[in-house]
Amino acid sequence: MIYRFETLPSTNTYLKELAAQGAPQGTAVLAREQTGGRGRLGRSFHSPAGSGLYLSWLLRPDCPPEELLHLTCAAAVAATQAIEAACGVTAGIKWTNDLVWEGRKLGGILTELGFAEGRVSWAVVGIGINCTQSPEDFPPQLRDMAGSLTLAAGRKTTPEALAGPLLEALEGLPGLLNRRAETLARYRSRCVTLGREISLVRGDAVTHGTALGVDDWGALAVRRADGTLETVQSGEVSVRGMYGYI
Ligand code: BTN
Repeated sequence: MIYRFETLPSTNTYLKELAAQGAPQGTAVLAREQTGGRGRLGRSFHSPAGSGLYLSWLLRPDCPPEELLHLTCAAAVAATQAIEAACGVTAGIKWTNDLVWEGRKLGGILTELGFAEGRVSWAVVGIGINCTQSPEDFPPQLRDMAGSLTLAAGRKTTPEALAGPLLEALEGLPGLLNRRAETLARYRSRCVTLGREISLVRGDAVTHGTALGVDDWGALAVRRADGTLETVQSGEVSVRGMYGYI
């Protein structure tokens, strides 16, 4: 079932309510506009009417949470497939959940989980992708780092043109999750963070290092400035390039 709205506070919030009421896997919610679009780590996601695709998709995994650590990575792979199919753009992925093109953020992914007796009873995968914006359409604070499919493709690419390919790609998400090694290999090949000098931001604490790799659960392996190694999970840190967004 696909629910389509003119406006919602957040498609993720709405789909979480449907999930609590027992909606099945594959339920999707789309809105032309979000008034309270949410991103990772409590950030907002700018979601003006008709300019981007704002979509949430429901999984019913019924498995322990450890088996879903690669969910956001698999969703990112699905999103890049859909972008390629819709407009021919080869999007990159900034670890862990940003879709990028030429150093600009095209969109992002917010996954949220619900539990019953220690198992994941639902997972909402929310994807927001900028489609039609020109640079001047973005608010000043986003203008230097945001991009859109229309800018990347060099031809108008609407949310409507992306919706079908993205829904189709998400139908393949359970398969991507099952083929973990293959999916993570595809994720790594698109990941623009690897090999870069990065800042890791945890609240007020900032450390620096080099992004070495992504393990088979989607965690980022980093060599700190003092030479020691650490593995960071997506829930705990924000990654920034040393000299800009990537
Ligand atoms: C991020 O950039 O950190 C993730 C952004 C995710 C935005 C999408 S838009 C559809 C869904 N509904 C939301 O409120 N958020 C996600």
